[in-house]
Amino acid sequence: MKHMFASDNSSGVHPRVMEAIARANQGHAVSYGDDEWTQRAHELLRSLFGDDAASFLTFNGTGANVLGLSAVTPPYGSIVCTDCSHVATDECGAPERILGAKVSTVTGRLGKLSPDQIERVVPDIGIQHHSQPRVVSITQPTELGTLYEVDELREIAGVAHAAGMRVHMDGARLSNACAALDIEPRALTADAGVDVLSFGLTKNGAMGAEAVIAFDAEIANDLAYQRKQQMQLASKMRFLAAQFVAMLEDDLWLRNADTANRMAGRLADGAASIDRVTSVYPVQANAVFAAVPHEVIATLQKHQYFYVWEPDRPTVRWMASFDTTETVVDDFVEVIRKEVDAL
Ligand SMILES: Cc1ncc(COP(=O)(O)O)c(C=O)c1O
Repeated sequence: MKHMFASDNSSGVHPRVMEAIARANQGHAVSYGDDEWTQRAHELLRSLFGDDAASFLTFNGTGANVLGLSAVTPPYGSIVCTDCSHVATDECGAPERILGAKVSTVTGRLGKLSPDQIERVVPDIGIQHHSQPRVVSITQPTELGTLYEVDELREIAGVAHAAGMRVHMDGARLSNACAALDIEPRALTADAGVDVLSFGLTKNGAMGAEAVIAFDAEIANDLAYQRKQQMQLASKMRFLAAQFVAMLEDDLWLRNADTANRMAGRLADGAASIDRVTSVYPVQANAVFAAVPHEVIATLQKHQYFYVWEPDRPTVRWMASFDTTETVVDDFVEVIRKEVDAL
């Protein structure tokens, strides 16, 4: 089987998700979400996130982020996030284009935003010349593979809420955070002060299944209309929903995420045993950022394709997936060792 460490979305689809899509492909069903699979998906999402969690399924993660943010950001608002956040760097300006709002970045520390950085934007509130900070967007786990502890989330939410701002969480890999911290999704989101969440399953074994979860009726109110306007309403919703059902029933989401995390840890440990290879950020979920000698990168990429993240150091990113095996990891570690030792 071909494997690569480029991204967790380089992986394929978990067989149980494929089977669920095929099973949903029986005859006709009412469209736009009024079908039994979507009802079941909503029920399962409520069992993870609480009875007050209103969910809206979407096609992709950028769509989920923009939709979630649109419920809490007016066109004159600003979205406060780190300079490495997906919202700021990898969505081709979608939030700015669709919302008309400003994405306002602060320098992340290990990919994380801190409460004092929110406090520094609060004086802009009420000044008519400035974009109005309305929402803090944090990514869990971060784009650098690090994690916010529950206390850190609570502190961020406390400062944001005290200033009248909302908290959005980009949870494209929230499953990996739950597995790594051994904590329930509700505890890591609504109970920690998150108002609106993008919850992704695509990177964790689905084919394409993401959702916006609103923890507040005021936020949920307009999301159905916003989703339609933003072209994220699936007519054949049952096929998105069937993926959620397959992933959430029987905790497949958690087992997949746990595998990916463990394989990243194994890769990090193996790589750390090689001279001249060092971890750049703490490995806390399923991403490994490593500094490797630049001479070996092209050869290593032929074995297992991956991205060079920071060309100057150079730092590479290796992401483990739900289907990464110990053999794949160990073989790659040996290839790295051989190439580096030969320098
Ligand atoms: C942190 C984060 N958020 C969201 C996304 C989802 O993006 P997409 O629109 O590609 O599904 C990604 C995908 O790379 C991501 O890494």
